[in-house]
Amino acid sequence: MEYQNILVTREENIGIVTFNRAKVLNALNHATMVELSAAIDELDSDRTVRCIILTGAGEKAFVAGADINELRAIASAAEGTEFAAWGQTIFFKIETLSKAVIAAVNGYALGGGCELAMACDIRMAADSAKLGQPEINLGIIPGYGGTQRLPRLVGKGRAKWLILTGDMISAQEALRIGLVDFVVPVAELMNKAKELARKIASKAPLAVAWAKKSINVGTEIDLVAACAYEASQFGLVCGTEDRVEGTTAFLEKRPAQFTGR
Ligand code: COA
Repeated sequence: MEYQNILVTREENIGIVTFNRAKVLNALNHATMVELSAAIDELDSDRTVRCIILTGAGEKAFVAGADINELRAIASAAEGTEFAAWGQTIFFKIETLSKAVIAAVNGYALGGGCELAMACDIRMAADSAKLGQPEINLGIIPGYGGTQRLPRLVGKGRAKWLILTGDMISAQEALRIGLVDFVVPVAELMNKAKELARKIASKAPLAVAWAKKSINVGTEIDLVAACAYEASQFGLVCGTEDRVEGTTAFLEKRPAQFTGR
């Protein structure tokens, strides 16, 4: 697919998706969402890509939300439901992808931008970033999973504070409440995100995939069922060549060469 609104690049075994509508602070219009979905499919099916980074072009924004022009044009409740559900399927694709996805939050991550970051596995923010769910100021609520992923990350009270006030918070505050996992100087953001991506990319791909799945599935169900689920995923990794390679390499005191089989 020819991309008009995003850039898709590869560095070694890392895939990088850069939202590229800096003039509108990388707001997510329909075309950008279609391209995001296609880019995720493309990077998912590329076996040389072992970790993905999402970031925004320019110095100001990661993603400043869904495109407010399109929000204004929604004509009915049914259309609104469809709008939200369709966006949610794309964010679920990211969350359930077999590869790890890192959000490198380089500036504003608002509304759909904050929701997108929350659908990623790990959030690394520039010290200048600002995050929030300002939908309430537009007379709407988050629709791409924000009312669900935010309380799961930061707790109900803090989620209600952010969603009911629409307040933006600093990267440091986001770190304090658990909305982001790391804060780094803005100039170092991409290098640090790539360093993290390279580290994950060096691990056994199936172990990464099943660890991610075990955490995602297990944290939504009760502990006993979750541990049984973990055991089944553990069983799956035990059936891989990479388990033999990883354990053998340790015992032979050499670096493991993982193949993803
Ligand atoms: N949708 C569409 N356009 C957007 C946008 C969005 N979510 N966010 C920013 N833009 C556009 C602005 O309309 C402006 O366009 P213009 O140059 O044609 O006037 C351009 O991006 C730059 O934004 P601007 O508001 O001038 O920058 P700022 O530095 O003064 O403010 C923000 C930055 C992020 C505080 C402000 O743009 C904002 O509040 N954006 C909306 C955030 C939001 O509500 N997101 C949730 C949507 S669900």
